[in-house]
Amino acid sequence: MRINPETVDRIKQTADIVEVVGDFVSLKKKGANYSACCPFHNEKSPSFNVNPVRQIFKCFGCGAAGDAIKFVMDIDGVGYGEALRYLANKYQIEIQEEEVTDEEALRQNTRDSLYIILNFAKNFYQQQLHETDEGQSVGISYFRERGFTSDIQKKFELGYSTDTWDALTKEALQKGYTADILSKAGLLIHKEGSQTAGYDRFRGRVIFPIHNVAGKVIAFGARILKTDKSQPKYLNSPETEVYHKSDILYGIYQAKNAIRQLEACYLVEGYTDVVSLHQAGIENVVASSGTSLTTEQIRLIGRFTPNITILYDGDMAGIKAALRGLDLVLEEGLNVSIVLFPDGEDPDSYVRRVGAEAFKEYLKKASRDFITFKTETLLQDAGNDPFRLAAVIGEVVNSIIKIPDAIKRQVFFHRTSEMMKVDEQMLISEGNKLLRKLHTQPKPQERGNRPGNFAPQGPQDIPFSDDGPPPDFFESESPAAPEETDEQTQRTKLYYQEEAFIRLLVLYGANELEPTISVCAYVLGEIQGIDFKDPVFHHLLTLFRENFGRQIVLQTDYFQNHHESEIRDLTISWLTSKYELSSLWTEKFEIYVPSEIDVLDKSSFINILRLKKAFIEEKMKICMEDLKKATTEEDENAIMNEYIFYKGISMAAAKELGSVIG
Ligand code: CTP
Ligand code: MN
Repeated sequence: MRINPETVDRIKQTADIVEVVGDFVSLKKKGANYSACCPFHNEKSPSFNVNPVRQIFKCFGCGAAGDAIKFVMDIDGVGYGEALRYLANKYQIEIQEEEVTDEEALRQNTRDSLYIILNFAKNFYQQQLHETDEGQSVGISYFRERGFTSDIQKKFELGYSTDTWDALTKEALQKGYTADILSKAGLLIHKEGSQTAGYDRFRGRVIFPIHNVAGKVIAFGARILKTDKSQPKYLNSPETEVYHKSDILYGIYQAKNAIRQLEACYLVEGYTDVVSLHQAGIENVVASSGTSLTTEQIRLIGRFTPNITILYDGDMAGIKAALRGLDLVLEEGLNVSIVLFPDGEDPDSYVRRVGAEAFKEYLKKASRDFITFKTETLLQDAGNDPFRLAAVIGEVVNSIIKIPDAIKRQVFFHRTSEMMKVDEQMLISEGNKLLRKLHTQPKPQERGNRPGNFAPQGPQDIPFSDDGPPPDFFESESPAAPEETDEQTQRTKLYYQEEAFIRLLVLYGANELEPTISVCAYVLGEIQGIDFKDPVFHHLLTLFRENFGRQIVLQTDYFQNHHESEIRDLTISWLTSKYELSSLWTEKFEIYVPSEIDVLDKSSFINILRLKKAFIEEKMKICMEDLKKATTEEDENAIMNEYIFYKGISMAAAKELGSVIG
């Protein structure tokens, strides 16, 4: 069917981009706009923006952009027509259609037709449940036995497939759907060489439709009712063009609002766990459907909340296997807790036995953060065997270093050192060693991955870029492990400071600070004698200096159109991030970024002070190194004096900085 132009206009006028996007990602208000982590690429700090005035979205990280319709098309992987239908449904706009047959609609594209046939099948199974004798006597009584109310059956659109060979296929063919699309949707099994169309995949089973985030049915899970050992308990749809098992979580559509509201998500294993918990009033729950968690599934949760609690009913072997997979949840920067259930119970059976209130109490009481849980479990398992204990330390440290947040890492180093009765510093330097190893493994990308190119996303997105790990990965206040950490911390910090500086010149160099004094003139004067370490920044600084010597202040245009793509790209990333840098970025790296041109003089002044301070601190580091190598007392004294001299400057700069920022 074709939607008529007047309806399209109404949809466009009614659909509000903030509401539409808000159904899929958690938007935070930021000034006049809204921001979020981009659903179209992987990131940990938000560069995805929604502008309610212009009714558009844009991601400064991956470039995705468009209006509400485009958003639905992209997030859902559907065509224009399907996106319009989705919006019409959301805003209860009646669709006026022009005469186009179902068949024509089917041909529009395969994805759209898969959604249509899957939706047809879902309705069919529901109808079989309610309107056939077999459905009522077998299907409904099974759901009743499990305690599922008819409301909850409706909410999850549960159904039943009768114990016949081809009830669905027959009906579908009769309605004009093709055998080809039925089999592409995973509903029809066709044996090669057979003369008949084939037979239904799901027969004599209760049906759990699997929805995508937007609420469209994309697959089915079907549970057997007989005790037939030769048949699997659950049959699931195969992978199809619209169903990728590893990308989806059962229940996400029904759970997403609760997850967002409660800022927490429970992860269970089974379909029935999800349904049962909903019925008990716990709606922020999704299932991995018996497979081990994938990164895509974790990111899907991460779109709604960073807090995941995994409800496990596994045995020890299963738990240990799962623990290994869970490091990737940490890498995604999510907070993970675990709840174990008593032997033989799963969330479904447990909630039915003890009731909703006691169940919630249990969750509170039995919940452990992942690292603590892992340490505890592995320790128990290792007993007193010293070799196995050493392995435990390695595994625990390996998990801790995956956490992107420095403060959290510190807490866990501390906590686990007490649990394992080992020195905290030892754990930290073990962690640094592992990180170093990870980091020195060559990476395929070259400078393309520079932090500068990702300015709006902040440093957490480049944990292992070529320019060094993010500074806080190597942070340790302790004197025990300084040689492990300082050089790299300093180098990276310096990098960001240099970047902030050169960025200021490129973006605002030609601005007037006072009549006749440009930003460029002022800052170049202030940093005479200082050179940049990073070769690209050095190159840019040299360009500024050379031209300034000839009374020319290079403008942003010049860099934006530079013949070297690296310089062009950097400039463009700075331009797009002009007003976007998060406070996290600025605080972490002690960089002051102007959000408005009128604070320019202050910001350039502060950046100069910081740059100076950073250089001085580097000099102090070198002194300390030299001091270790010094052989005579004379040398030692000389180095000490130099050190004290620098220390004085650094303190003065710090004080000045304090008063400027204050
Ligand atoms: N599963 C599957 N295929 C199987 C068995 C299990 O796909 N043959 C998946 C299903 O998604 C199921 C989940 O693994 O929901 C958990 O399996 P299990 O604990 O055996 O099932 P329950 O969900 O507890 O189902 P029930 O309570 O009905 O036994
Ligand atoms: Mn169960």
